[in-house]
Amino acid sequence: MTAHRLSGMFPGVPATAPATRARSGSLLALTNISKTFGAVQALNGLSVDIAPGEFVTVVGPSGCGKSTLFNIVAGLEEPDDGGSLQFLGKPCRARDLLGQVSFMPQRDLLLPWRTVIDNAILAVEMEGARKSDARREALAMLPEFGLTGFEQQYPHQLSGGMRQRVALMRTFMFKRDLMLLDEPFGALDALTRSMMQRWLLDVWQKHRRTILFITHDVDEALFLGDRVLVMTARPGRVKLELPVTLSRPRNADIVTSPEFIAQKRILLEAIEEESMKSFTAQTGSH
Ligand SMILES: Nc1ncnc2c1ncn2[C@@H]1O[C@H](COP(=O)(O)OP(=O)(O)OP(=O)(O)O)[C@@H](O)[C@H]1O
Ligand SMILES: [Mg+2]
Repeated sequence: MTAHRLSGMFPGVPATAPATRARSGSLLALTNISKTFGAVQALNGLSVDIAPGEFVTVVGPSGCGKSTLFNIVAGLEEPDDGGSLQFLGKPCRARDLLGQVSFMPQRDLLLPWRTVIDNAILAVEMEGARKSDARREALAMLPEFGLTGFEQQYPHQLSGGMRQRVALMRTFMFKRDLMLLDEPFGALDALTRSMMQRWLLDVWQKHRRTILFITHDVDEALFLGDRVLVMTARPGRVKLELPVTLSRPRNADIVTSPEFIAQKRILLEAIEEESMKSFTAQTGSH
C-alpha cells in the first residue's frame, strides 16, 4: 500500500487484519513464516506483504524475532518448512534474496581501517564495481548524506549520527528495490535521532526505494511509516497492521497532532500487551 492510497483515511483508523496472502503487485510477500533455533521458536506464522515504494515499519518487544525476520528477508537465514516467500510475484527461497535486497544490520560495523568513502563503497566494491567509479559516485553523494569534507576520515573520527549516515550511504549505494534497516537510529540521542528520521524521509522520497524498517520506538515507527506492523511477543508474528494516515511530507510538529496521538495510542496498547507477555515469560511473574 503506498502513501497516496492511504490518504483520506480517518485518524486513529482501526487496524486491518494482518495480511495472509500476497496482494497483486507486491514486491515481497512472506506467508506463514516460522523460524526455530533449537528449543527457541523465534517466529511462528508471520505474514508480511510489502508493496513497491512503501515504507513499512516493524515494532515489537525485544526478542520477538524482528532481527530474525530481517535475516530471512536479507537472505541470511532460511525459515522452517511450511511457509512461503515471493519476490516480485515469484516464489523463492530466502537465499535467493541475498544480493536482491540491500540491508543494514542492527550492529552495522564500519571497518575501522577504511575511510568514510571506502566504507561507503564496500558493498558495491564487493559486488565487482570498479573502485574508482564507486568512489566518484560516493563523492557525489556525500553532501546528501551530510558528510562533505569527511571523505578521508576514519570511523573513530566521526559522531554516532555520522557513522550511521556512512552505513546508510553504503546501503543506498547498493541499489536494490528493497532496503532493510534494523534499528539504524537505536544508539543515537533523541535530537540526532529526530533529525536523522526527517533526513531519511527526504532521502527515501528522492531515491524512491521500498523500505522495511525495524525499530523499538513507536513514535519513530509512526513518523516514518506508511504502515506499522506490531509483532507479538516471541514467537513473533504480525499482531496488528496499522495504515498510517499522516500526510507527507511530515515535519517534526506532526507528533503533536491529534491524528498522530490517536494512532500512537492504538500502537502503544498493542505493543504494551505484548511487552507484558514477554516480560512475564522472562521473569515468570504474573
Ligand atoms: N542464530 C541464532 N541462534 C539461536 N537463537 C537465535 C539466533 N538468532 C536469534 N535467536 C533467538 O531468537 C529470538 C529472537 O531474536 P531476534 O534477534 O530476532 O529478536 P529481536 O526482536 O530482534 O530482539 P531485539 O529487539 O532485542 O533486537 C531470541 O530468543 C534469540 O535468542
Ligand atoms: Mg534485533
